[in-house]
Amino acid sequence: PLVSSTSMLRQARRHGYAVVAFNVHTLEMLQGVVEAAEEAEAPIILQSTVGTVKHLGADYIAAAAGVAANRASVPIALHLDHCSDFELIVQCIRAGYTSVMIDASHHPFEDNVRQTAKVAEIAKAAGVNVEAELGKVGGVEDEIVVAEHEALMADPDDCARFVERTGVDTLAPAIGTAHGIYKGEPKIDFDRIERIAAKVDVPLVLHGGSGIPEAQVRRCVSLGMAKMNVATELRIVFSDAIKAVFAANPEENDPRKYMIPAKRALREAAIEKMRLCGCIGRA
Ligand code: 13P
Ligand code: ZN
Ligand code: NA
Repeated sequence: PLVSSTSMLRQARRHGYAVVAFNVHTLEMLQGVVEAAEEAEAPIILQSTVGTVKHLGADYIAAAAGVAANRASVPIALHLDHCSDFELIVQCIRAGYTSVMIDASHHPFEDNVRQTAKVAEIAKAAGVNVEAELGKVGGVEDEIVVAEHEALMADPDDCARFVERTGVDTLAPAIGTAHGIYKGEPKIDFDRIERIAAKVDVPLVLHGGSGIPEAQVRRCVSLGMAKMNVATELRIVFSDAIKAVFAANPEENDPRKYMIPAKRALREAAIEKMRLCGCIGRA
C-alpha cells in the first residue's frame, strides 16, 4: 500500500539524502518514475498538482498509485502538490493520498499559520503527511504564478515559529529556487538553508528542482533538504521523446509507439535526479 512520506523523509534528513518527488500527469509518467525507483532501489514520492487532480481525478490517480505501491518493492507515497483549497485536500485524503501540501504562502503569516494548522489537524488524524510553504517560491507551477519580484525568501525565525504553531511534518522554505527552468543559474541562499535547518528539525523540501546544477542540489541536500520536487524537466523529457517519434514518423498513430520511448526517457531522467539526491539504494 501507499505509505505516508513522513517517516521516509525523516529518515532522509537524518541520513543526509533527499527523496525525489516527481510530478506526474499521465499513467505512463507514473509508471516511468515508479520503474525508475524500483531500478534505483529508492523510496519515491508521486505527486500531482491541483491541475492534474482536476484533469484525471483524485480517485483515478490514487488507484493507479495504489496499484504501483502494491506491486513495488520500494516505498511509495502519493502527495498533493501546492494546494490552497481545503475541500480539495480533504477530497484527496479521502481518495487515498498519503501526503498533502497546503500552500497558503501567498497569505500573511498569521493566515498561513491558521490554514496550515487546520489541515495539519485533519491530516494527522488520517495519518497523512503535511507540507507547507513559507516565503514564496518564484516561477510558474501549474495554476500558481509568482513573478520574480514577488518571490520572497523564508525567515529562519518565522520557520521555527511556523513549525511549532502548525505542527507540520515537512516545511518548504523559499530559499531562492524557482519553478520552471532557470535563466542562468538559480541564486540559492545556502546560508539561509543552514540557519533554517538549525532551528527546524522537520525535513525541509526543495521546490523548483528542475534546472538546479548538480553541485547546488548536493549542497542543499547536505544542509537538510530531504525532499526535492521535480516537475518541469520531466514534462520536457517526456514530451521531447514523443516529439522525436512523430518527427521520425509523422503518421504514427499507435500510442504505445510513442508512450514506450517517452516512458523510457522519463525513467532515465528520474534515475539521474535520484542519483543527485543520494537516495539510490535507500529503499
Ligand atoms: P520544477 O518545475 O522547477 O521542477 O519545480 C517543481 C516543484 O517545485 C513542484 O512543486
Ligand atoms: Zn513547488
Ligand atoms: Na526549477
